[in-house]
Amino acid sequence: MKLPPAVLALACLSVQVIGNTLSNRNGSYDVAEHLNGEKHALLQDIVTWDNQSLYIHGERIMIFSGEIHPFRLPVQSLHLDVFQKVKALGFNTVSFYVDWALLEGNRGTYRADGVFNLQPFFDAASQAGIYLLARPGPYINAEDDASLWPSGALPTYFLERHMQQSPSTPLSLVEFQGGFFGAWGGPGYDKCSALFNAQFENVFYKNNLAAGVAIMNLYMIYGGTNWGNLGYPGGYTSYDYAAAISETREINREKYSALKLIGNFLKVSPSYLDAVPGNASTTQYTQTADLTVTPLIGQNTHSAFFVVRHTDYASTSSTNYTLKLPTSAGTLTVPQLGGSLTLNGRDTKLHVTDYEVGTINVLYSTAEVLTWKKFHDYRVLIVYGGPGEHHEIAISSKSAAIVLSGEQSSILTKSVNGQSVISWDVSSSRIIVKVENLLILLIDRNTAYNYWVPQLDNSPSKTDFTTMSTVENSIIVKAGYLVRTAYIQGDQLHVTADFNSTTEVEIIGAPKSVKCLFINGEEFSYNRDANDFWIAQFNYTSPDLILPDFSKLEWKFINSLPEVQPIYDDSAWISANHNTTNNTVAPLKTPVSLYSSDYGFHTGSLLYRGHFTANGLEKTFTMQTQGGTAYGSSVWLNQTFIGSWEGSPSSDSQSSTFNLPSLESGASYVLTIIVEIMGLDEEWRGPPRQLKNPRGILDYNLSGHNKDDISWKLTGNLGGEDYIDLARGPLNEGGLYAERQGWHQPDPPSDHWQTSSPLTGLDKAGVGFYSTSFHLDLPRYYDVPLSFVFSDDSATTKPYRVQLYVNGYQFGKFMPHIGPQTEFAVPQGILNYQGKNWVALTIWAQENGGAKLGGFRLTNSTPVRSALCDIVASEQPVYEKRAGAY
Ligand SMILES: *[C@@H]1O[C@H](CO)[C@@H](O)[C@H](O)[C@H]1NC(C)=O
Ligand SMILES: *[C@@H]1O[C@H](CO)[C@@H](O)[C@H](O)[C@H]1NC(C)=O
Ligand SMILES: *[C@@H]1O[C@H](CO)[C@@H](O)[C@H](O)[C@H]1NC(C)=O
Ligand SMILES: *[C@@H]1O[C@H](CO)[C@@H](O)[C@H](O)[C@H]1NC(C)=O
Ligand SMILES: *[C@@H]1O[C@H](CO)[C@@H](O)[C@H](O)[C@H]1NC(C)=O
Ligand SMILES: *[C@@H]1O[C@H](CO)[C@@H](O)[C@H](O)[C@H]1NC(C)=O
Ligand SMILES: *[C@@H]1O[C@H](CO)[C@@H](O)[C@H](O)[C@H]1NC(C)=O
Ligand SMILES: *[C@@H]1O[C@H](CO)[C@@H](O)[C@H](O)[C@H]1NC(C)=O
Ligand SMILES: *[C@@H]1O[C@H](CO)[C@@H](O)[C@H](O)[C@H]1NC(C)=O
Repeated sequence: MKLPPAVLALACLSVQVIGNTLSNRNGSYDVAEHLNGEKHALLQDIVTWDNQSLYIHGERIMIFSGEIHPFRLPVQSLHLDVFQKVKALGFNTVSFYVDWALLEGNRGTYRADGVFNLQPFFDAASQAGIYLLARPGPYINAEDDASLWPSGALPTYFLERHMQQSPSTPLSLVEFQGGFFGAWGGPGYDKCSALFNAQFENVFYKNNLAAGVAIMNLYMIYGGTNWGNLGYPGGYTSYDYAAAISETREINREKYSALKLIGNFLKVSPSYLDAVPGNASTTQYTQTADLTVTPLIGQNTHSAFFVVRHTDYASTSSTNYTLKLPTSAGTLTVPQLGGSLTLNGRDTKLHVTDYEVGTINVLYSTAEVLTWKKFHDYRVLIVYGGPGEHHEIAISSKSAAIVLSGEQSSILTKSVNGQSVISWDVSSSRIIVKVENLLILLIDRNTAYNYWVPQLDNSPSKTDFTTMSTVENSIIVKAGYLVRTAYIQGDQLHVTADFNSTTEVEIIGAPKSVKCLFINGEEFSYNRDANDFWIAQFNYTSPDLILPDFSKLEWKFINSLPEVQPIYDDSAWISANHNTTNNTVAPLKTPVSLYSSDYGFHTGSLLYRGHFTANGLEKTFTMQTQGGTAYGSSVWLNQTFIGSWEGSPSSDSQSSTFNLPSLESGASYVLTIIVEIMGLDEEWRGPPRQLKNPRGILDYNLSGHNKDDISWKLTGNLGGEDYIDLARGPLNEGGLYAERQGWHQPDPPSDHWQTSSPLTGLDKAGVGFYSTSFHLDLPRYYDVPLSFVFSDDSATTKPYRVQLYVNGYQFGKFMPHIGPQTEFAVPQGILNYQGKNWVALTIWAQENGGAKLGGFRLTNSTPVRSALCDIVASEQPVYEKRAGAY
């Protein structure tokens, strides 16, 4: 499938799309020739490569990337927020998918307006200085890579396999594990992020570095939400993914902070891309077989990197070691001043030798490098260690190290053979040591989490793409929650940052030309300390938030299953009259196809009506339905509830047999059946098959009848592929009666509906529709994460299925009997933080006892005082009477 010209053109204009349009590096490897035996003209000379890395504009660059799917965050003005949080990690790239199901829901009609427009996503990337890797589709998958601390599962074969498969290209890991999708009935993302945590990052990502990875994309860096039925059946509404940036765009997981240390290190370590991995060894560099060391040796520089891990990567023990390091000053046994190094369980260390800090040579550092900077007349290097560890650093310099601040008793300095050697015990109090004009900050890992390294830009509205020059042209800011950008205007230094508590802000490297400090546009007074660091304080105040109490609001209620009433007229429904199917993997078992996609219905709930004339011999009705894991179905015979398949996390298809009451021979009857589609399957390996698994009724049998005694009609969402709600797209609404009418949109015609709350619920099997509205007036300049939280009423008959609609957008499916999700995040822009909001629920009670919610609340987590502002609401078309709705 071709990318629509607009998207491709816009993508190329706004940001350099890497990946699709790669060409050979002139004068280097002619990959096209290599592959096809024929020469192709260069398409562009912006992005080129050799066997070690990509180049952008001729400069070697490590692509450190995270995956984000624009369609999983349907508020355009929030993309910048996420991109800035990615940039702050030290990353330079975001990889994204394009979801064709949303853009071409109606074959041949391409729509990319409103929340589906890709241009604002490209613009935000460009504004944040982030390159994009495009994965345009048409088929996309949402899958994972490695599995979890099982024994022997550290992938140590990457380099070898790469050298077999593609030695002339840089080693790329384009979907490396950043978390995990959450499955229906699974443990939930809290448990998942506990597994894919900071330790996982340190062990697995540094293992990738040991293999010499030069293009690394983490799937996901921000997951977002499977709103509006866009997920596949294996996953529930939240696509948080236990990623470094949470679904609510919060960055308070330690894995974000730990990743920031790795990202910022690589950003200032160009010699990494020049280094070639050597053989991993348990004997050459350490004296214990418990540790494995992989060297990466510089070719055109003296720099080398030594990646030290436990041989049993999952080991939780601490191992002491000394290192035998080849350096420009000969092979040294480190630490030279006594003591030993320690590798704690599930950690990996990246030691450097002959590491350049702007013309100063760091002979070695056992503490890991966070960043370094060259300022006008001095340099700063920040290194960190884990709590309680002992470390040593040596600078190739005859000058003695001077301890400027810190606990003297824990530091030892000595000049040895033209080296200035510093050794220390890591603690939470910072040590500053000076060698020549280099200030070395020795800190612990938790303190390192508070450091940020924003590039210094000349524009308030544009951060440069990362190059070595922007890397040197940066400041270092010790703050708290987030530092987004820094820029200079005249004599003003501006910093934009977010705070979740009162925070000391320390600025290292403010240029000589600036005098005034502005944080988020407001001037702050500051002190200069002895090192010429600027110190200011940001006072955080917790705002008063007033959120609605759903138990006190007036809810309007209407029955959403009028189809079972005698007066209901289904003459406008589509007749199931295809006696063949377009489906190539599932031959028909029924006289006419009842596969929903044969009739253009691909999303949400399906309804079937099966008409027949009774002969008195009916005893049972059997049907096989299929909707993807956790799907459910229910059956009525005229007004009589017959039974349900309640659903299960392990079942994507089910055959159910229901007993029937005795029927009156000669009388006409109608079976009304609901089948909820949980999405289409994704494909794993081999020829496309699973993704074609049909949805709906696959087979049935009415005892005493031939199959063709029943004549069928069906419906899904109103209009099918000719979907009605262009703003919210082809998948957002399903086929329940209230959805077909459009009542889930704001301002439904509810004046004459009953007043009844979802906390009261339904007293029998059926589908109820509930709607209410409320105002929010949340403070501006705060990013307030809001979630809708359901709780089950333990006394209620389960099972039941709930859909949450917020201002017309479906933002949640709650199924207490399946779980695990009870909390549904909804972003600002879908919710109006200063204005009116409409919330609607469909509740489908699958058993005779009916169903009611135990609780339903809107809650917030810590409001973050944010530089983010001017969030523009996504389009929220209100209810209008739908022509032809049935
Ligand atoms: C590539 O090299 C050829 C031959 O040396 C030269 O003619 C051409 O201009 C070069 N292209 C680029 C994009 O540098
Ligand atoms: C890349 O190629 C150069 C030149 O042939 C070679 O020296 C170097 O080892 C190669 N790099 C890797 C990672 O194989
Ligand atoms: C503030 O954010 C930090 C992470 O940056 C987190 O550790 C801390 O718990 C947060 N504080 C509050 C009150 O949410
Ligand atoms: C790495 O090991 C392989 C096989 O054992 C050997 O051929 C190669 O020379 C080694 N490379 C280095 C740099 O020692
Ligand atoms: C490891 O080294 C630390 C000091 O750095 C020491 O306290 C500890 O006892 C040592 N552990 C072992 C097993 O030698
Ligand atoms: C922040 O609070 C401190 C202590 O209450 C106060 O001295 C300082 O003036 C405040 N700073 C600002 C910018 O309001
Ligand atoms: C069953 O429902 C259909 C459609 O509403 C109706 O025509 C029929 O009379 C009903 N049958 C009985 C026995 O009530
Ligand atoms: C199947 O449909 C075709 C076209 O509508 C029709 O000609 C044919 O008779 C049908 N076959 C059966 C068995 O109903
Ligand atoms: C399904 O098959 C029919 C008959 O071959 C064809 O006319 C129709 O276009 C197909 N529909 C789709 C969606 O492929």
